[in-house]
Amino acid sequence: MARILITSAIPYINGIKHLGNLIGSQLPADLYARYQRGRGNEVMFLCATDEHGTPAELAAAKAGKPVAEYCADMYAVQADIANRFGLSFDHFGRSSSEQNKRLTQHFAGKLDDAGLIREVSEKQVYSNADGRFLPDRYIEGTCPNCGYDRARGDQCENCTKQLDPTDLIEPRSAISGSTDLEVRETKHLYLRQSAMKDQLDAWIDSKTDWPVLTTSIAKKWLHDGDGLQDRGITRDLDWGVPVKKGDQDWPGMEGKVFYVWFDAPIEYIACAKEWADASGRTDADWERWWRTDKGAEDVRYVQFMGKDNVPFHTLSFPATILGTNSHNEDTGSSERWKLVDYIKSFNYLNYDGGQFSTSQGRGVFMDQALEILPADYWRWWLLSHAPESSDSEFTWENFQQSVNKDLADVLGNFVSRITKFCRSKFGEAVPEGGRFGERENALIDELTRRVRAYEDHMETMEVRKSAQELRAIWVAGNEYLQAAAPWSTFKEDPEQAAAQVRLGLNLIRLYAVLSAPFIPDTSARMLSAMNTLDTGWPDDLAAALDALPAGHAFTVPDVLFAKVLDEQREDWQEKFAGTRN
Ligand code: 2FM
Ligand code: ZN
Repeated sequence: MARILITSAIPYINGIKHLGNLIGSQLPADLYARYQRGRGNEVMFLCATDEHGTPAELAAAKAGKPVAEYCADMYAVQADIANRFGLSFDHFGRSSSEQNKRLTQHFAGKLDDAGLIREVSEKQVYSNADGRFLPDRYIEGTCPNCGYDRARGDQCENCTKQLDPTDLIEPRSAISGSTDLEVRETKHLYLRQSAMKDQLDAWIDSKTDWPVLTTSIAKKWLHDGDGLQDRGITRDLDWGVPVKKGDQDWPGMEGKVFYVWFDAPIEYIACAKEWADASGRTDADWERWWRTDKGAEDVRYVQFMGKDNVPFHTLSFPATILGTNSHNEDTGSSERWKLVDYIKSFNYLNYDGGQFSTSQGRGVFMDQALEILPADYWRWWLLSHAPESSDSEFTWENFQQSVNKDLADVLGNFVSRITKFCRSKFGEAVPEGGRFGERENALIDELTRRVRAYEDHMETMEVRKSAQELRAIWVAGNEYLQAAAPWSTFKEDPEQAAAQVRLGLNLIRLYAVLSAPFIPDTSARMLSAMNTLDTGWPDDLAAALDALPAGHAFTVPDVLFAKVLDEQREDWQEKFAGTRN
């Protein structure tokens, strides 16, 4: 039994995620986790909310809540929606947890001991009215280049020029609008990524099986321009992990917190400790997933994320782990942390001729999606259209077509036809008699080939190809039924019709098992209609199609998938065109 550690990029706490976010990491990660569990492997699937940083603080202020309370409330909302989407995390944690705080401080201490952290004195804009330092993008003013009056301190949106806050003409706080700003000197910690460039480069080179999307982004950051830069890992904010060196104070860093992108990936690890702590397990139970000196050497670790997250996961987070591990090696400490083995990254999903936008409320958000249709409709469409080799686009026409054809006509109709026919001619039990002939053997051969191809695609995380293969498996059953036509056979040869129907009912169980990673709720309904708990993987197709014996009782399920009507499509198209309030 293989052991597989799976993490999905952890979503920001501020606001409910849209379907583009969902297909960019959590959903394909869930597909893979469910598949690996289905194959009998030991899986640890982790995700969490990303709770620190200025956006969380500002969203809390907007909601009129203390930030800790805002995060706790939004965590509950996100956890509930994730659950309703069938995201099967072993634990859904929080980057603001005590576990993450300690671990983040621990790693920072190790990196400092390794000489990989340096202090930098910087000039930064302080807002007297807001009583805080302002991150670059929270300073607005007039662009010196084009005169646009709402340019941000990091970049002008109008002419795209990269800016420094001090370049802005008549700068003001984007939080309060105050112009009572001054430049103050402040000290920050920088992670010396540049010192680790060669090590990171060699490590990326060793990943010959990684998707080009992943390695090309990493290589660009390693080699373009001046190459890999050191990165500031602290901020002058109130909300975040306080800067400490292990459990010791860090002189000069009082009142500062770690940068959100420093502590967020460490939450992948802390989340496993949260899981252990929440379920009465021991440290050894989570460390066997994360510490290669404590049993994790045979774990395969796979990360899922959108392409915008790749630089942090191929460079910054590995720098944290590699730096810590090499230091431990030098000091003779046995402490070694697991590095990622495979990174599956995604392009963007666009929405109906434009982009999904959280700030503009454009597109369909996870809660809204579930208000109009059950999770499996969305899961199927999103996964079968995953933005893998390029960006992809959600359109209502395409969604309607895919639901109506794939789910209603192909899979739903198959299940309905065979169960209803059996009930009318043989009753609600698997019929006995008859034998499999050439047609049945040809189907078993085709399914054997297709299931092996499906396994290959799932194993290599080719999401769209997996969906296509699964659909072809459903189609093969339909075509068999159409050709065998037990409703005609029954008239001359009821025994043969019985064998055909027996095969058809067994196909339903087979489809439930194979489809579970994509459409888990429907798969559970199919198994329950077939009155079986047997979710055994079809290593041997002939045996799998004999799992439900003659005489085994079943029930006819309710319609599995309702078709999307033209009126509904038009309604939804209109409803989701505008701004979410
Ligand atoms: O882009 C995002 O949604 C980030 N919150 C992802 C963080 S992933 C990680 F590093 F934890
Ligand atoms: Zn400009």
